[in-house]
Amino acid sequence: MVDIHSHILWGMDDGSRSLEMSIAMLEMAASTGTTDIVGTPHADATYEYQPALIAERRAELQEKLGSRIRIHTGCDFHLKLDNIQEALVDPRKYSINGLGWVLVEFSDMMIFPNTEEIFARMQGAGMGVIVTHPERNWLLRKDIERLQRWVDAGSYLQVTGGSLLGTFGTDARKFSEELMARGLVHFLASDAHDLERRTTRLDQVRVLVSERYGEDYAEALLTTHPQAVIEGRALHPGALEPPQKSRSWFQFWK
Ligand SMILES: [Fe+2]
Repeated sequence: MVDIHSHILWGMDDGSRSLEMSIAMLEMAASTGTTDIVGTPHADATYEYQPALIAERRAELQEKLGSRIRIHTGCDFHLKLDNIQEALVDPRKYSINGLGWVLVEFSDMMIFPNTEEIFARMQGAGMGVIVTHPERNWLLRKDIERLQRWVDAGSYLQVTGGSLLGTFGTDARKFSEELMARGLVHFLASDAHDLERRTTRLDQVRVLVSERYGEDYAEALLTTHPQAVIEGRALHPGALEPPQKSRSWFQFWK
């Protein structure tokens, strides 16, 4: 599996706090089936984005992990005015492996009314827009049609694996299921921050998606699509063919 969203680079944000913790998070990912992981530190009002330090930490961790797992870099890009301006000037700066795909995180306070225009400008500058965990943002949860429009206009959605497993509560889980049912989810990622609750494990959600929606769907969301992102390849825009929910044994009793 390929994980395009994680906070495994230590000392950059509210993710890993030490070199040892980063190594443990990476070991956990490697031992549960992740072959590639992208370290995506926050770039927001609290945390400054530091590309040189990110490259340094990546190299140090890669040396420690050897061939156990491949480490890539990107950014958890907060959609705010100065970030947007900088990204438009230098589209490689915040993108995964500098190849154009950008993770876009929204504020819990407000959504820019001209978001579609901002996305169009980012796309026009050569960036692929991936909206991160909309299921965990109450403002985005209020309006699934808006997300549908963004996807129709060429943006992509990433849901956090833990959301489908219930880690972030019932609302986030139900909304994730709704997005899945509509074929609006293009990626599942860990958004790992620690070793306890928000971990680097993707194996449990892989099993869940595979059992519920089929192995092909799990493969697309957890391997094929994220692989294209780390290689800077294009993906077919728009919603996916909605997955066929398979009947599980307990549904026979409902
Ligand atoms: Fe994140």
